[in-house]
Amino acid sequence: MRHLIDILDLSLSEIDSLIRTAEDIIAHPQDYAEKCRGQILASLFYESSTRTRLSFESAMCSLGGSVIGFADAETSSASKGESLQDTIKVVSGYADIIAMRHPRDGAALAAALYADVPVINAGDGSHNHPTQTLTDLLTIHREKGKISGMTVGLCGDLRYGRTVHSLIEALSRYPNMRFIFIAPEELRMPEYVLEMLETLGQPYVETDDLDSVLPELDILYMTRIQRERFEDSLTYERLKNSYILTRDRIQGAKPDMAIMHPLPRVNEIAPDVDEDPRAAYFRQTKNGRYIRMALILKLLSERAGNFQLIPGDAAQAGYRPCPNGRCITRSEMQIKPYIRRGRTSQEPARCLYCDTKLKY
Ligand code: NCD
Repeated sequence: MRHLIDILDLSLSEIDSLIRTAEDIIAHPQDYAEKCRGQILASLFYESSTRTRLSFESAMCSLGGSVIGFADAETSSASKGESLQDTIKVVSGYADIIAMRHPRDGAALAAALYADVPVINAGDGSHNHPTQTLTDLLTIHREKGKISGMTVGLCGDLRYGRTVHSLIEALSRYPNMRFIFIAPEELRMPEYVLEMLETLGQPYVETDDLDSVLPELDILYMTRIQRERFEDSLTYERLKNSYILTRDRIQGAKPDMAIMHPLPRVNEIAPDVDEDPRAAYFRQTKNGRYIRMALILKLLSERAGNFQLIPGDAAQAGYRPCPNGRCITRSEMQIKPYIRRGRTSQEPARCLYCDTKLKY
């Protein structure tokens, strides 16, 4: 079974081919209007969404398929205490493909273990958001004509913002990239992402000063401070206005810098920036529909793929439960705490679901 849980489940040539398909869909939408006739997408959203859910649903409708699902976990049997495992087994009997968003880190991988149909991760807690990354890559390709050789600034909540984690995993595989991470100390990129870059030998710079790096950027990727992930509201209140992009502020930026944002924005981009031709974020949202059409087509047409799970049982190996309080293994007790072993014996074992380091 082929799933998309992490952007690394796709090779670069597969990403290229998804981008090519999306471009073809944009040019000839009528050629795709019947491709999924008779197929059903289940859209299971345990957490709020506008763009991701509606673009998945719009994508399936544009392919001639149908959509079932829920937009609010309160209207599903999760509110009666049903486990994720049971819900997924049941939905596998009703749909040909599942797109799922869940507030817990690692929930999409947990769902994939129990599904009989392909599962697409539409966002798992503060962990990953691979289809936003596909949207972002298509956008970079359309705005800049290529993806490699870019200086990319990522600004805002790099700790809890799942979109930037997946985006960096993907972009770090392209040649000649420079990354500048712009965030307050408390919201820096998680260590597992920084360690991945170090392992790859991919340089990056961390700063909290947006203005000093703005003139260097080919792409500025703004993000929302993720209020719902903070344990205390005082910290959120203190950090919520860390960066506000205004028309004045971007005067010194490159004339062809692309300003991206996964949206929704709160106040990190002032509305007067929308008129600037560099503001790419509404074009970005549209791209989400076409790349998701390409992805649904791909997963439905492939019966075997490179998603390979070689888990090790964490408890048997003597590891303590995952220390990440937001991990799916901490709320769904039937889900086995598997480990993802490091590629070398020096690399630590991590939780298979959320990538947090495990302790003995
Ligand atoms: C993002 C998400 O849900 O992670 N939104 C989206 O999918 N376009 C970003 C966010 O909520 O800030």
